[in-house]
Amino acid sequence: MRRKTKLIHGGIPQDQHTGGVSFPIQLSSTFKQKSIGDFNYEYARTGNPTREALEKLIAELEDGNAGFAFASGMAAITTVCKLFSQGDHLLFSEDVYGGTYRLVVNVLSKEGITADFVDTTDLNKVEKTLQNNTKAIFLETPTNPLLTITDIASISKWAQDKGLLTIVDNTFATPYWQNPLQLGADVVLHSATKYLGGHSDVLAGLVVVHSKALADEIGFLQNATGAVLGAQDSWLLIRGIRTLAVRMEEIESHANQVATFLQQHSTVPIVYYPGLPTHTGYELHHKQSRGSGGILSFECGSEERVSKILSSLSYFTLAESLGAVESLISVPAKMTHASIPAERRKELGITDGLIRLSIGLEDPDDLIEDLERALKK
Ligand SMILES: Cc1ncc(COP(=O)(O)O)c(C=O)c1O
Repeated sequence: MRRKTKLIHGGIPQDQHTGGVSFPIQLSSTFKQKSIGDFNYEYARTGNPTREALEKLIAELEDGNAGFAFASGMAAITTVCKLFSQGDHLLFSEDVYGGTYRLVVNVLSKEGITADFVDTTDLNKVEKTLQNNTKAIFLETPTNPLLTITDIASISKWAQDKGLLTIVDNTFATPYWQNPLQLGADVVLHSATKYLGGHSDVLAGLVVVHSKALADEIGFLQNATGAVLGAQDSWLLIRGIRTLAVRMEEIESHANQVATFLQQHSTVPIVYYPGLPTHTGYELHHKQSRGSGGILSFECGSEERVSKILSSLSYFTLAESLGAVESLISVPAKMTHASIPAERRKELGITDGLIRLSIGLEDPDDLIEDLERALKK
């Protein structure tokens, strides 16, 4: 089955009982047992038919053997981090999502798990941070918000040789454009709140693995810690995923046009977008990914200018999140990455004048005209 067909026919596409072409929402929290232990489903935290349909679908889309759905992207990341325990050391890409950073620094640290944030685009730097107790490397590529590109295959190979797990947050690329398990990663995860849902109306997280041992461990943790995705939200996510291909193709074409416009604008010194040939990592990204996505960031110079731009825009909504049908604008230093200390943000290049755009499905000419007006102010 090809990618676009998988989005429609993957998982369990129809209701086995009625033939309904839309998979039913099963709200029951518990299930009748014919006799003790004789059942298909036992209890909704352990397994729910609608969630199972979604989990099978995402496992197929990521070319894995087992999928798991959680109440949010952070619940998915937290559950995966429960694979590790006191005394373990983890490595993370240095500009990971601010919520991941906060989890590591403020929560995992209390559990006796230590971590280093490292420039994963440079294997030599990664090598230097390796410790005897390092257990995994967690990558984001492209990263949020600087769209930095890491070589998934090289890092996965290195990690495998050292006996570490490679975990990839594939939220920005989606399984439509990039499949980290095919490149050697062990775990792929998503904030499905973003492109997979696609309509700013569901909060969810997904995890996919290949190996039976990891599937057993994550399945156990999912049930034991309990941050599972509800049936209604599982259904919404299945519906969103059906249109992922058309949304991603269209959004990418719009993002390319907006990025090109910004790059040519005399008052914009830097544009970060993996679809621009000038982007650091352009070639690598296109080697491991089939598309450039719909997120771009640009430097506008100062906090004052950010305020002027924000107050002049009509079609970009100032909001957290990304990956939906409507275009969103955010200021990472004040919003998504506010939990990273100012000094560290500065080192990373997440300045107060950095703006992130999530390009949606509006007419790209309207988006460009909107930005043109705002940049003139
Ligand atoms: C790359 C990335 N990973 C994880 C998350 C966390 O996902 P959620 O907000 O669904 O908990 C986000 C949220 O913005 C994100 O951008």
